Amino acid sequence: MKKVLAIIGSPRKGETYKAVCRFIEELNKVEQVQVEYIMLSRYAISDCTGCHNCIKKGEETCHENVKVHEIQDKIKNADGIILSTPVYNQHVTALMKKFMDYLTFLWHRPSMFGVKFFGVSSGGGMFGPVFKYLKMNVESWGGIWVDGLGVPHYDTLTEKFKDKVDEDIRAKARKFIKAMEVKTLPRLNFSRLMWFNIWKMNAEAGKEDLKKDYEHWSKMNWFNTDYYYDVKVGILKRIAIKFATGMARMFMRRVYKGY
Ligand SMILES: Cc1cc2nc3c(=O)[nH]c(=O)nc-3n(C[C@H](O)[C@H](O)[C@H](O)COP(=O)(O)O)c2cc1C
Repeated sequence: MKKVLAIIGSPRKGETYKAVCRFIEELNKVEQVQVEYIMLSRYAISDCTGCHNCIKKGEETCHENVKVHEIQDKIKNADGIILSTPVYNQHVTALMKKFMDYLTFLWHRPSMFGVKFFGVSSGGGMFGPVFKYLKMNVESWGGIWVDGLGVPHYDTLTEKFKDKVDEDIRAKARKFIKAMEVKTLPRLNFSRLMWFNIWKMNAEAGKEDLKKDYEHWSKMNWFNTDYYYDVKVGILKRIAIKFATGMARMFMRRVYKGY
């Protein structure tokens, strides 16, 4: 049975939680799944103090490591993760943002390769910025963003629009189940390759200051590879990446030391 982890970034069991439950109900109609819910509010994660230790010394030195590590382990053990949040001022809640901040080290040292993430949001509308932000984080960690489901205030919808939302939930539930079945890593695109090279450049430049990054990149042999995992990069893409990385390096050299 597939394991789904639902991370709830609302401070209460309100509309967002209900939207997640509706989505899970539909998942279960496609195929029975085992679900674990995490209310981020129950973890009472304190503010990020900005010490940068997660990046410089390692995530285990973070003052909230126990809580963050526990959630991260749950993510790694699931077949699919639901990241949910209401829309707050056209963005995620502070609770969800704080959780994302604690995973910043994964931008530097990604490890969620192939993990499937799905976004659920509730609010009046304007779900785009919420999903754009969540997707950007997920992809930076190495994960796969499957899709996002925005559920407007359900109980006040017209019958016609409710049908539309229900159909959206059904279609996206099928999509998420299908995505969880695929075990292969995603095909590379130019953007992913480019970001890999930018982070490589950062890790090299930060040899002294970002010691943990440099150690990790060396240990993983990423300084000598085309990507985080084994991929075939065609000659044209290779030339384009070399050129683009050269341009990026030139820009960085004009601004920062060490590049
Ligand atoms: C502080 C705050 C900011 C909000 N900002 C927005 C917003 O920008 N756009 C929107 O459509 N709804 C906004 N809302 C409404 C919530 O997104 C909406 O009521 C949501 O369904 C609440 O989810 P919950 O029941 O899980 O808390 C806001 C609500 C709060 C409390």
